[in-house]
Amino acid sequence: MLLRSNNFMVKNIAIFASGTGTNAKKIIEYFSGRTDIKVNFVVSNKEAAPVLNMAQSFGIETLIINRAYFYKSEDILQELNQKGIDFIVLAGFLWLIPDYLVNAYTNQMINIHPALLPKYGGKGMYGMNVHRAVKLAGEKESGISIHYVNAKYDEGNIIFQAACSLDESDSPETIAQKVRTLEHQHFAPIIESLITRR
Ligand code: GRF
Repeated sequence: MLLRSNNFMVKNIAIFASGTGTNAKKIIEYFSGRTDIKVNFVVSNKEAAPVLNMAQSFGIETLIINRAYFYKSEDILQELNQKGIDFIVLAGFLWLIPDYLVNAYTNQMINIHPALLPKYGGKGMYGMNVHRAVKLAGEKESGISIHYVNAKYDEGNIIFQAACSLDESDSPETIAQKVRTLEHQHFAPIIESLITRR
């Protein structure tokens, strides 16, 4: 059991992201000005990920990790503990989460997936790969799945899903836009509801 150094008044969120960070930005904006919930750490495995500059522009501390650090040591637990992180949000973070971290944040770490799981999940199913597969299958709907994180890609228990309808004129790009809209609309409020009911 990880000992949290937090003062228990503020719930601190760490966001793990590898890309642009549009979801991370929405989450940061949603909680900015709040005294009870704060995003105070952003972790990325990509040095050039735009999410890092975005987070820094909000004065949020960032950390760049490499594979050895993440998979061969458990040092990130100390970092998270020092910052009093209560809750981890994966928002476009593509690496599998190692067991030690899953165990330290059981039911306190969630991911958002850009499709209606259990369809179109698993290794390699990220970004436009997902939307192309949805289009190819001629699906009549797609959407988002917010789920707890376990040690397998996209297999943790589903917390929330929202769907959008598709028609033949949709392309992978328009599907991506529809799904992105749902992500930006729902992710932060779901995070809030999970944290505040604790
Ligand atoms: C989102 O589509 C999310 O569902 C997936 O990664 C993408 C991240 O996008 N897990 P962004 O970097 O937040 O724009």
